[in-house]
Amino acid sequence: MDRRPEISRQRLGVNIDHVATVRNARGGKHPDPVRAAHMAIAAGADGITAHLREDRRHIVDNDIARLKAEIGRPLNLEMAATPEMVAIALKHLPNACCLVPEKREERTTEGGLDVAGQEMALLPQIAALKAAGIRVSLFIEPDARAIEAAARLGADIVELHTGTYCEQALEGDAAGLAHELERLTAAARLAAVARIEVHAGHGLTYDTVSALARMPEVVELNIGHFLVGEAIFGGLDAAVRRMRVLMDEARGS
Ligand code: PXP
Repeated sequence: MDRRPEISRQRLGVNIDHVATVRNARGGKHPDPVRAAHMAIAAGADGITAHLREDRRHIVDNDIARLKAEIGRPLNLEMAATPEMVAIALKHLPNACCLVPEKREERTTEGGLDVAGQEMALLPQIAALKAAGIRVSLFIEPDARAIEAAARLGADIVELHTGTYCEQALEGDAAGLAHELERLTAAARLAAVARIEVHAGHGLTYDTVSALARMPEVVELNIGHFLVGEAIFGGLDAAVRRMRVLMDEARGS
C-alpha cells in the first residue's frame, strides 16, 4: 500500500512586474502586462501576482484595475503595509494581498517582512484587509519567530522567501544550499502545523524550482523575473509551460 501523504497539485502564480518594467523603459503601452497575464494563464498559471511599488517603477495603478477586471483568475497584490496601499487594495479587492517590506532604493524585495518586530503596526492593516474579504499573506524569511508572529497576527498565508536558497544555488555552495533547504522545509512544516497556508517565491528558476515543488506543505509558488527573462529567448508561453512541467514532475502530481 502507498503510505505517502496525499500531495496536491502545486499552484503557479506568475508575477508579471517585469513586463511592466520593459514597458516603462520607453513609456507608452507596449509590452502590456495584462496581455502577458492572459498568456501566462493560457500556458498554465493558476493566478497572477503583481507588485504595486510605492514609486510605481513597474506596475501602475491602472494595471491593477485592469488585471482585476480582466484576468478571471486570482490576483495576488504584493504591496507594502502602508495606509496608501491598503486603501488601493480595498478599492480593487484582489483575491490576496502579500505584504512585503519595501525600501525605495532597493532593486527588488531583499528580505522578508520583520513580522515579529512590527506586530502592532501590521495588526490594523491586516484587520482592514481581512474585513474586506482579502486573504492576507506575509512574505517572511523561513524562520520560526516570523511564523509564530504570523500566526498571532491571523495571517491566512505565509510566503517563504527563497532568495537566499536561490543565491546559494547560483554560487554552487552545496553546504549552504542544504542548510537553506532545511530552513525552508522546517518553516513550511511549522506553518502548516499552525494551519497557515504556505507559499514560496523569489529568484526561482528551472534549476531551483524542483526542491520547492517537492515540499508537500508548499501549495503555491510565485515566480516572475526568471520567466520574463526566459520569455525574451523562447516566449512567455513556452517558459510558463516548462516551469509547470518541472513543478508537476518534481511533485509527482
Ligand atoms: N514573491 C514575492 C513576495 C516577491 O516580492 C517577488 C518579487 O517581486 C516574487 C515572489 C517573485 O520573485 P521573482 O521575480 O524573483 O521570481
